[in-house]
Amino acid sequence: MLASGILGETAASMLRVHQAGAGAVVTKSIGLETNEGYLNPTVFSMKEGLLNAMGLPNPGIMDYGEVVERLVSEKVTVIGSIYGSSPSEFAKLARAMEEYGAEAVELNLSCPHAHGVGSEIGSTPEAVSSVVSAVKGAIDIPVWAKLTPNVASTAELAVAAEDSGADAVVCINTVKAMAISADLRMPVLSNGVGGLSGRAIKPVGLRCVYETFERCSIPIVGVGGIYTGTDAAEYIMAGATAFQIGTAVSELGVNVFGSVVSELREFMKREGFADLKEMRGIAHRRT
Ligand SMILES: Cc1cc2nc3c(=O)[nH]c(=O)nc-3n(C[C@H](O)[C@H](O)[C@H](O)COP(=O)(O)O)c2cc1C
Repeated sequence: MLASGILGETAASMLRVHQAGAGAVVTKSIGLETNEGYLNPTVFSMKEGLLNAMGLPNPGIMDYGEVVERLVSEKVTVIGSIYGSSPSEFAKLARAMEEYGAEAVELNLSCPHAHGVGSEIGSTPEAVSSVVSAVKGAIDIPVWAKLTPNVASTAELAVAAEDSGADAVVCINTVKAMAISADLRMPVLSNGVGGLSGRAIKPVGLRCVYETFERCSIPIVGVGGIYTGTDAAEYIMAGATAFQIGTAVSELGVNVFGSVVSELREFMKREGFADLKEMRGIAHRRT
């Protein structure tokens, strides 16, 4: 799947991702009102990865229906990502996404740089639980909780999500980070703090998926630093059922979906795995 926030604003860009072989697209996170996001610089590319603090720019849910409906009419599987500042806001947004034809909603409980939303309301099991329960009570399509790695235990949040009825958890959002310009003697991003993504965070994502698999029985969607078929295989071995690709798309283009899938197929053939189920969670089994 395409991860939220990358090429996820227009129907045309998500259609391209679908045509390139992604099984589903996750929209960028949509809120109740139009949001301009932060002032530039909002993205900074470093050798360690990509640092961003976009501030959740989006057109608002009322203007987003057309995008989802167009994709659905083209037979694209759409996962509607939403963010809000209270359980009732999340429920309202989820209802709209369901009406537009999204296949599932992904609750952004994990954006590390937005104020009053994202991980600010998704960092405790209680908060995760109240949002998931409210959304589950409001819609019939599956509810996925996207969790933050910026806590002592992401698995603890996943347990709260599962106990509140979540159908899947998505691990992980970006890792809270900062870049400082020595020349300018100040943080590079206008917001100061941002979220790190890309290769550098794969070990963090794998650890979160691994720990969550030991505690939860609902499916886990792995995301963070996937560029190759082997990266995807590692997430599946840690316990993921599916995976999303974000930063690699901005670096390698949409063809990364095709290359990751064909590399994963080759890997499985070479290693004698008949299907993903045989590989899922295998890193947990000790002989
Ligand atoms: C520029 C940018 C914007 C993002 N916007 C969102 C967003 O709107 N909602 C969300 O849940 N995650 C967002 N993310 C996080 C990604 O979906 C993903 O969880 C994270 O980048 C780790 O995966 P990756 O290493 O493959 O990029 C964003 C990431 C980037 C780089």
